[in-house]
Amino acid sequence: VAFDVDSALHRVDWVQAKADLARDDFDNGRSPVALERSFAESEHVAFAWDGAQLVGMARLLSDGVCNAYLLDVWTASSHRRRGIGSAMVRYLLERVPGQHVGLQTSDAGDFYRELGFRAQPEFMATVVGTWLDNPANRACDKSDAAQ
Ligand SMILES: CC(C)(COP(=O)(O)OP(=O)(O)OC[C@H]1O[C@@H](n2cnc3c(N)ncnc32)[C@H](O)[C@@H]1OP(=O)(O)O)[C@@H](O)C(=O)NCCC(=O)NCCS
Repeated sequence: VAFDVDSALHRVDWVQAKADLARDDFDNGRSPVALERSFAESEHVAFAWDGAQLVGMARLLSDGVCNAYLLDVWTASSHRRRGIGSAMVRYLLERVPGQHVGLQTSDAGDFYRELGFRAQPEFMATVVGTWLDNPANRACDKSDAAQ
């Protein structure tokens, strides 16, 4: 399957994207507007397209100097094991030369090892208060009340 990778936020239908993520059991609760905001506010984004169909996405936070963090890497289950995920991650990594790139994964260790990532114990994390309980998501809830 031929596919393209770009960073064209305007091409994405976020209601459809959330539905696609949910179908693959990879929806973590953000409304379509909040999902869009997560990508729009990220330093670098990657979308994979099979024609007009969105078949993958990924995003990278970065300070533009030394540290970056990879998030929300997803390939549609119908399109996996065809190099799309790797192409999106490489697209993002090319944009942060010289930077340390972190990520957290439960199930995709083999995928990231293939791309050169290595475990670096000990990763620690906390959620401040309750997941998604912040003004950005409350604002989104209002405008998404119909969804
Ligand atoms: C992880 C994910 C993004 C990989 O996307 P993909 O487009 O299928 O990845 P690629 O085709 O580029 O895979 C490249 C290589 O990674 C490895 N790999 C990918 N998926 C794998 C799997 N499920 N099991 C073992 N190895 C895997 C393989 O070595 C593969 O090469 P091969 O197909 O020639 O054997 C995709 O499976 C996905 O969206 N999973 C659900 C969401 C998720 O877990 N995202 C990561 C969150 S941290």
